[in-house]
Amino acid sequence: MSERRPEQSKYTLDRGIPGAFEGETVTRRRLMSLAANVTGGIAIGGVALSAAGFAIGQPFVEVDTGWHDIGPLDEIPDETYVPRVMTLDPKTGQIGKTTVYVRRWNDGIDGDKDVPGGRKAAERADQWNEVIAISSRCMHMGCPARFVQAAKHFICPCHGGVYDFRGSVAGGPPVRPLDRFYTRLVRADGTPLRPVADGEAGEAGHLGSRVPAGTRVQVGKRFSVNQELRRFSPRPPGQPLDGLGEYFFPSTPTMRKLPATPGIPGS
Ligand code: FES
Repeated sequence: MSERRPEQSKYTLDRGIPGAFEGETVTRRRLMSLAANVTGGIAIGGVALSAAGFAIGQPFVEVDTGWHDIGPLDEIPDETYVPRVMTLDPKTGQIGKTTVYVRRWNDGIDGDKDVPGGRKAAERADQWNEVIAISSRCMHMGCPARFVQAAKHFICPCHGGVYDFRGSVAGGPPVRPLDRFYTRLVRADGTPLRPVADGEAGEAGHLGSRVPAGTRVQVGKRFSVNQELRRFSPRPPGQPLDGLGEYFFPSTPTMRKLPATPGIPGS
């Protein structure tokens, strides 16, 4: 028959532990450990919660950039880019501004829209690329890339990323071409020009002579492209969209490309 162990006193004094006062039940060591554990727990919780909020919440946040006027169409060339500064997020002041490089569609560079299945058919001419607007954000880690006129390439100073004239990766660590923005043409009063449907006359559709005088350009949402310049919903830098990349890095629910624009279904 096992002997019952005598019940231990709860007082530090009875247990031979040095205490601060008579009747003390918690030792200083235990108190300090408890305090250290609670403090550590609060600190870890704070860091973990903010990290989780950033990771989980970010995909559901979408900044509605709307359409931004970047000036008259006739000030935009078709053989080189001109920089334009636009505000992506008005709430963040200067930080919300970005530089886009714009030029008009050029059949010789971008492909003829009437050639079906051609090498450049992925980027078909439509109402959203009458003016091509290329983001300056490098697709390696997001540094600002710059269009160098003499080289006719975009160069990123951070790790030597190089993009060709159309923004496709030509060298260095970037994983996909520079992102682009939808653009549209509007009249002087801001009403959009009617796009040209196939085989139909219209106001805008890669037909410069038909564009009315005073036409202005607006830049809208950002979208991403793969090496074939197929459109995808916007992705952050560092996410490839060629091969299996498009499946490994799906789009976030609130960051879809404009409806009814060419590209990969569901992307
Ligand atoms: S951020 Fe542009 S090459 Fe690294």
